[in-house]
Amino acid sequence: MTVGQPMIRVAVAGAAGRMGATVCQAVDEAPGMVLTGRADPALETTLADVLGEAEVVVDFTTPSTAQANALECLAAGVHVVIGTTGFDPEPLRAAAAQSEGNVLIAPNFAIGAVLMMRFAAEAARHFPKAEIIELHHDRKLDAPSGTAARTAELMRPEMAGDIPIHSVRLPGLVAHQEVLFGGEGETLTIRHDSLSRESFMPGVLVAIRAVPTLPEPVVIGLEHVL
Ligand SMILES: NC(=O)c1ccc[n+]([C@@H]2O[C@H](COP(=O)([O-])OP(=O)(O)OC[C@H]3O[C@@H](n4cnc5c(N)ncnc54)[C@H](O)[C@@H]3O)[C@@H](O)[C@H]2O)c1
Repeated sequence: MTVGQPMIRVAVAGAAGRMGATVCQAVDEAPGMVLTGRADPALETTLADVLGEAEVVVDFTTPSTAQANALECLAAGVHVVIGTTGFDPEPLRAAAAQSEGNVLIAPNFAIGAVLMMRFAAEAARHFPKAEIIELHHDRKLDAPSGTAARTAELMRPEMAGDIPIHSVRLPGLVAHQEVLFGGEGETLTIRHDSLSRESFMPGVLVAIRAVPTLPEPVVIGLEHVL
């Protein structure tokens, strides 16, 4: 950071959650940004309470709240980085077009997971069939995972037929995915494991820095800002 450059003011929605609390700590420790608010019903603080101080909101909440939160940020002209999965992002396009705020949505902020998706899209050009197994901790609310849905979306233009997704939910897991390809007498497996929530933090910090200057008002996928 250049001396005298203003700090990016960041608030976190879902700040008491597993991901939100990890993001608060990462922002607190990152150069060039300052944590200005923690919104979460568990902390008795609403998003509206923290919007006034924030330039960027990071949302790790629930599939049923992420869209409304993002619309609230855009109405206030605040940028939003969304890690929450399992919600419909479509209404955000019209709202972002009318707002000073941009939206960056990433179903997975782990660098290895972004590479897994890219390699899977590449392999899809060469194999006739594939299936995805995604494995997560048993308190995850949505299935299939946003990462699995996005991986299949990236592979689909290259593959005829369905790409089945299998969801495993077990205590002890964090976030894992295998993409299995089958061809004539051979298989290929691409696997990624997030072993802790810290794996997502470098990507979240990249997203916070990138969201004010996105090429489009709404961007989906961390790969566009790496
Ligand atoms: N993109 C990624 O890389 C990535 C990685 C891990 C998890 N996730 C996703 O992040 C989301 C959160 O996961 P988690 O494990 O931290 O969940 P969690 O249940 O631990 O935390 C969610 C928090 O959101 C709070 N909340 C609910 N409604 C709210 C609202 N309207 N405003 C503010 N806060 C609100 C809850 O009180 C809770 O503390 C999930 O959708 C999960 O799939 C994404």
